[in-house]
Amino acid sequence: MQSIESLQDKAAVLVEALPYIQRFAGEVFVVKYGGHAMTDPEARRGFARDVTLMRAVGINVIVVHGGGPQIQAALSRMGIESQFKGGMRITDDDTMQVARMVLVGQVNPDIVSLINQAGGRAVGLSGADGQMLRARRMTLDGEDLGRVGEITRVDDNELRLLTRGGFIPVIAPVAVDHEGEPLNVNADLAAAAIAQHTMARKLILMTDVAGVRGPDGEVVQSVNGGIVRDWIDTGVVAGGMIPKLACALDALEGGVHKVHVLDGRLRHALLLELFTDRGVGTEVIG
Ligand SMILES: Nc1ncnc2c1ncn2[C@@H]1O[C@H](COP(=O)(O)OP(=O)(O)OP(=O)(O)O)[C@@H](O)[C@H]1O
Ligand SMILES: [Mg+2]
Repeated sequence: MQSIESLQDKAAVLVEALPYIQRFAGEVFVVKYGGHAMTDPEARRGFARDVTLMRAVGINVIVVHGGGPQIQAALSRMGIESQFKGGMRITDDDTMQVARMVLVGQVNPDIVSLINQAGGRAVGLSGADGQMLRARRMTLDGEDLGRVGEITRVDDNELRLLTRGGFIPVIAPVAVDHEGEPLNVNADLAAAAIAQHTMARKLILMTDVAGVRGPDGEVVQSVNGGIVRDWIDTGVVAGGMIPKLACALDALEGGVHKVHVLDGRLRHALLLELFTDRGVGTEVIG
């Protein structure tokens, strides 16, 4: 049997969470769940429970997911190679088909099932549904990236209806262009655009590293926008961390209070960051 002291320790954990719960209830939090963070089954179940708990205490949680490794695996099986520029996948028509199949047909329903198993009520959507995410083809340093989109408009009506009803929207980062054709959007950018339009309090980016590493290779707890810009320019951050931090800056300028980069492989990373006095990962502030 558990001693009364150990039960009191558990009660203390709940009490520590109280001021955070009071502050966050009714607010919108956008959680981007990176494809790289989804590997460990136990951490995935933990993520689903964390999101369900956030919803249960009144936070309007919106999940946006990635799927880089899952898309990569499918492309490799089909013998299609891709190249990256600035952390983004150059996407021809075949690659777009595969990306959509994997994101909308596999990763999205997997996350919906996980959250439903944890007792939450998740609804899977892609950004194309109801034309929630509109985008135009983007270029990077003058180079065409193919069917890669940058978001031009977010229609958050559907999201509001769902969150108001206590549902947890789970969004695949596929947008539509002006012709109604699909565009692949980096999930970090999609999450940041959604965070800005829903006036989210927080944008949480869950990935596969302990946080953002600075010039000395150590993970930093807190970093401000000016320094982040410098790290992008000088190559301190590279690969998939570039769109993450670039969109963190946009989100902060767009009114989001705080952006967190968390290790999705760490069990209950979300709860530790949000509801305890000791944060984990890196926070990016304005
Ligand atoms: N300074 C840095 N600090 C931390 N990570 C960095 C840094 N520079 C580059 N990275 C890389 O960025 C990667 C995270 O971005 P990546 O796009 O690979 O994953 P993700 O966005 O979580 O997943 P997905 O793209 O599937 O949604 C890390 O695994 C790391 O290798
Ligand atoms: Mg990425």
